Amino acid sequence: MINFQELSKKYDTPLYVYDFNEITKNYNTLKDAFKARKSMLCYAVKANSNLSVLKHLATLGSGCDCVSIGEVKRALIAGVEKYKIIFSGVGKKDIEIQEALQKDILMLNLESEEEMYRVEEIAKQLNMIARISIRVNPNIDPKTHPYISTGLSENKFGVDIESAKKMYLYANKSAFLNPIGIHFHIGSQITQTAPFKEASIVISNLLRSLKAANIDIKFFDVGGGIGIKYKDEKTISLYEYAQNIFEALGNQDVTVLCEPGRYLVGNCGYLVTKVLYEKKNEKKRFVIVDAAMNDLLRPSLYGAYHNFKLLSDNQNKEKSLADIVGPICESGDFLAKDIYMKQTKHDDIIVFEGAGAYGFTMSSNYNSRPRAAEIALIDGKDKIIRRREKLEDLSSLEIDYI
Ligand code: LLP
Repeated sequence: MINFQELSKKYDTPLYVYDFNEITKNYNTLKDAFKARKSMLCYAVKANSNLSVLKHLATLGSGCDCVSIGEVKRALIAGVEKYKIIFSGVGKKDIEIQEALQKDILMLNLESEEEMYRVEEIAKQLNMIARISIRVNPNIDPKTHPYISTGLSENKFGVDIESAKKMYLYANKSAFLNPIGIHFHIGSQITQTAPFKEASIVISNLLRSLKAANIDIKFFDVGGGIGIKYKDEKTISLYEYAQNIFEALGNQDVTVLCEPGRYLVGNCGYLVTKVLYEKKNEKKRFVIVDAAMNDLLRPSLYGAYHNFKLLSDNQNKEKSLADIVGPICESGDFLAKDIYMKQTKHDDIIVFEGAGAYGFTMSSNYNSRPRAAEIALIDGKDKIIRRREKLEDLSSLEIDYI
């Protein structure tokens, strides 16, 4: 049992807490599901990019999937091997492409034909051969929230199958491009195996035709997207998930890459907050806490539900309907809506679960709020891995103010 009361006294709130032993467990469980074939897990840095989290995963053998040169550099600083780093994203700038090539990472994952020509041009200027993969959009509905669905034609990600074929043929002839991977990622927080299975079949059929055209693809990258339990979602069997991919591939000799973000860190993280006040009007009861949408944006942005625990010595068990809201000047600033909870009092602790992925990384300084501190728990011991921001941190870049 994590002693959140003690941690909140020691480090103040709002506070992010990550259980590193749980991250290890998740990493090993997923790696194990893939054990029948050559595989590599490339953690999606965007889920939680704290350097200590990255270093911990690097120690376990993980690679990284990055979407900016900033993430690539973070991964390298944290000790992730360069040949385990992939760089994806629909809008890479020239300088990002150049630096990624110079850093000699495993591959750049291309998302458009125009991007391919830019990468070719930059590789030519550097007199290098760029290792690439192509993100293919299989037009499959992942049955998740529309904001985190990415594998449909209406989404901006990747290229369709016909365009991908043309791109591979071109890249294979280019003196400055070396197509070594094929990639898809259909969305996030997916809780059914069928969309993954369907996508694996479509993309491995494409792989077969590329191999037949003598294009030597070595990596079959299935993206991320494995859903986790926030409330009462059913989650997928990892064994079945991996097995479906293997079956789709048949005897094709490739290394399977997987880019889990949320699965590895989501349920290892907590956002700890303190109650400030309660208030009521004729319609609603509000529990006002010291964390807000700038700390955890998911409820406001996606209507996401995060389970929570109220730590209070209040003996009265009676519950009533309430919203848990933060101090930010937005009606959309809530952490939980229409939930039943006991009466609270000043300084009671509320712990939000499932906050390890897309929690801190999506936080901001809106309303000039310094971002929360982050704590790691390793074998039950707490360690600060990012200090709480100070007001000076926020204003330090406004040098020439008038
Ligand atoms: N690979 C690629 C190319 C991705 O775009 C993503 C996530 C992942 C891997 C990792 O997906 P995961 O395993 O975490 O589902 N902010 C949203 C999630 C956005 C996901 C974006 N891409 C949320 O809070 O739910």
